[in-house]
Amino acid sequence: MSTATAPTETHLRSEFEALFGYSPLGCFRAPGRVNLIGEHTDYNNGFVLPIAIDRAVYVAIGRRSQTHYSSHDAGSATPPRCEESVRIVSDHRDERGERLTDQFAAEELVPGTLRGWLSHPAGVVDEIAKTTGTTVGGIDLYIESTVPVGAGLSSSHALEVAVLIALDDVYGLGLDDREKVLLTQRAENDFVGAPTGIVDQAASVMTEAGHALFLDCRDLRTRQIPFDLDAEELRLLVIDTRVSHSHSESGYGDRRRTCEEAAAILGAASLRELDEAVDLAPLTEEQRRRLRHVFSENARVLDTVELLEGHGGEGRSIRGIGELLLASHNSLAHDYEVSCTELDVAVAAAMSAGAIGARMIGGGFGGSAIALVDVAGADQIGETVMSAFAEHGYRAPDVFTVSAGKGAGRID
Ligand code: GLA
Repeated sequence: MSTATAPTETHLRSEFEALFGYSPLGCFRAPGRVNLIGEHTDYNNGFVLPIAIDRAVYVAIGRRSQTHYSSHDAGSATPPRCEESVRIVSDHRDERGERLTDQFAAEELVPGTLRGWLSHPAGVVDEIAKTTGTTVGGIDLYIESTVPVGAGLSSSHALEVAVLIALDDVYGLGLDDREKVLLTQRAENDFVGAPTGIVDQAASVMTEAGHALFLDCRDLRTRQIPFDLDAEELRLLVIDTRVSHSHSESGYGDRRRTCEEAAAILGAASLRELDEAVDLAPLTEEQRRRLRHVFSENARVLDTVELLEGHGGEGRSIRGIGELLLASHNSLAHDYEVSCTELDVAVAAAMSAGAIGARMIGGGFGGSAIALVDVAGADQIGETVMSAFAEHGYRAPDVFTVSAGKGAGRID
């Protein structure tokens, strides 16, 4: 199983100083997320229940003065085009083993024109200008991450949140949590051009340590739900299939459009506004299946919250949510059709080896599954999943445990 060690503030500061030649103003972290349940419900104004995981994106930020700018060549960072550019160095390496290094000027940013990792921080800078009137410039950022890229754990949203909270602090923007979530969502939707919902940003910004975040995506009301795996001697495994199927982006957009069209046909602003008893006759068979997933998934989130809060009269129970996790997977696989063979194999293998529950997470068509397991069985279940992948001739998955970490903030 893979592990990840969080960088210390001292480490981030010294890397920043070596790169840019002066001391950073501060260091910040924003976690990735695992959505326990409530998949493809956020853009339908429904319910979600993510945890912030103990893996995060880390940012050291500095504001260079004219002196710093003219007396240093910023180490391996290329010299800025102008004094006011934003320079970014990421410890993520390219194929030649070099750190990713880039820069942009806020005034030159045009939505939809940047591709890849840089589009995420650039989108945040663009949205800060649009939302607050503040033009970000003369800023240096150094980034490290323990969230695996492409695993469906929201590494890009965590990057956006980390950059936003760093800039919020340096410029004194005074954004509250809700504004941070909405701003990073607009960066993703309007600048990057990905039509995603709000669960990932909310999980990173709003979650408290040791809790899951119960979020109503219609009005962004939240409740912190206790999620203490140790108290029940449980572990949450992430199984990163390390595949991303080529239709993942188009498939996501298609599902969203289908739901919006179905809501419009039924005369509602969103699926959330519809009662389950609504007459589905005007819809196609495919639209009905998609709705069945969204309706049943919203109900599963409420049932999960009830179990975790112990309203059933039998005390709090994480163990009790296993069946709901599996039902969510089956609904995503058959009604919503966003799973893939690798995810199905991961879930089936984990369940066959004694997992309490398992399901795919995130947008689907690849990425990760989760498995809720007893501490005592965790290694065995991980090994069974590895063997199942080998038997199918799939690339070995990355299997690791996560716990409910704290939301984004400054590292002190
Ligand atoms: C991706 C998106 C989220 C959400 C999930 C599916 O992770 O970024 O907004 O829609 O897919 O639940």
